[in-house]
Amino acid sequence: MPNQFTLTLPSERSALSPTIASISLPALAHNLGEVQRLLPPQCEILAVVKADGYGHGGLMVAETLSRLGIRRFGVTTVQEGVALREHGIRESILVMGGVFPFQLSELIQYTLIPVLHDEDTAQGLAEALRGRVPPYPVHIKIDTGMRRLGLPPEKTLSFVQSPLFNGRLQLEGLMTHLADADNPDPDFTLAQIKQFQAVADQLRSAGIPIPLLHVANTAGILFHPETHLGLVRPGIMLYGHTPTGVKPHTARLQPAMRLFTKVIQVRSVGVGDRLSYQGAFRTTRASRIAVLPIGYAHGYSRRLSDKGMVLVRNCRVPIVGNICMDMMLIDVTDLPQVQPGDEAVLMGKQGSEEISAQDLAGWQDSIPYEVLCSIGPRVHRIYEPLP
Ligand SMILES: Cc1ncc(COP(=O)(O)O)c(C=O)c1O
Repeated sequence: MPNQFTLTLPSERSALSPTIASISLPALAHNLGEVQRLLPPQCEILAVVKADGYGHGGLMVAETLSRLGIRRFGVTTVQEGVALREHGIRESILVMGGVFPFQLSELIQYTLIPVLHDEDTAQGLAEALRGRVPPYPVHIKIDTGMRRLGLPPEKTLSFVQSPLFNGRLQLEGLMTHLADADNPDPDFTLAQIKQFQAVADQLRSAGIPIPLLHVANTAGILFHPETHLGLVRPGIMLYGHTPTGVKPHTARLQPAMRLFTKVIQVRSVGVGDRLSYQGAFRTTRASRIAVLPIGYAHGYSRRLSDKGMVLVRNCRVPIVGNICMDMMLIDVTDLPQVQPGDEAVLMGKQGSEEISAQDLAGWQDSIPYEVLCSIGPRVHRIYEPLP
């Protein structure tokens, strides 16, 4: 049955906003193709669309990937899963970030699949399911090194042998999460994989079927083919980026998001003028300063004050002074032709220049994930449709 989507492309309102994240759905499709190219044909893909699709608009991303044949989605919270269902996503939705007792009824109502990390949640879910048939699918996460959520490996067998799995709950998947899979030294990851496989073998020897085994995030997909099991969970590579950008790989990814705005004012200032809050930047020459209507309330980090670069008229120019909540200043002294209305690119290409999510991450001692998912609701999203 086709999906019944309730949200339309918001692009007709984009003319009202100068500050825009344009998202290329063809790039998303291309990146999905790259994931598929790296995997054996029988390996399924669960697309990770948490955190509003890493800032790209989770509903639009999931809708697009669903049209492209993706049958499983991963989110962190029950609310994210509910939002996908209400949008019309009918595929399997895995809630990977844990479920509190007060969320169980919504989880069931919206047929979201939980990842279980402890016995209390399993017990609570079984009680909430009382009187329902057939058994409810669940995944179990084991902690092989992340030290975040997950059952201790040695407790997995007894957990799955509990009577709960003999009626109300049905084990659909066994998973773990890799903590350091883009490290050039593979030892930690290999130890995680080994421990995971040992638990899977133990369960199978005890006669417990495990329909889906899954381990791989983007770094697993790119750097550890041994993690290409029944299912993989790509996130950041679908959006066109790699975790740290340091380790070479063979995927030809296309960044899906471009972030841009327009110059709102250009002003001249003298030598020794102090700019923006705290007067943190002092000019050393008579300067032309352009004002951009984007600041930290849009999700452009204040840590980029005096560090970040912006593209205007196909040139890189520096951000000067402290970034404000709603605005920032850039030094365009060397570009006398810059005028109000000119496009300024914060992330993406302009002419032959490009500022990548990795550049932005490097300037603020962060990672591309944080750069992407920080871009907030104040930034208008527009979508380049699939052909
Ligand atoms: C459990 C789980 N699986 C998969 C992913 C996707 O990771 P990546 O974006 O590195 O592909 C994440 C994201 O952090 C995650 O938490």
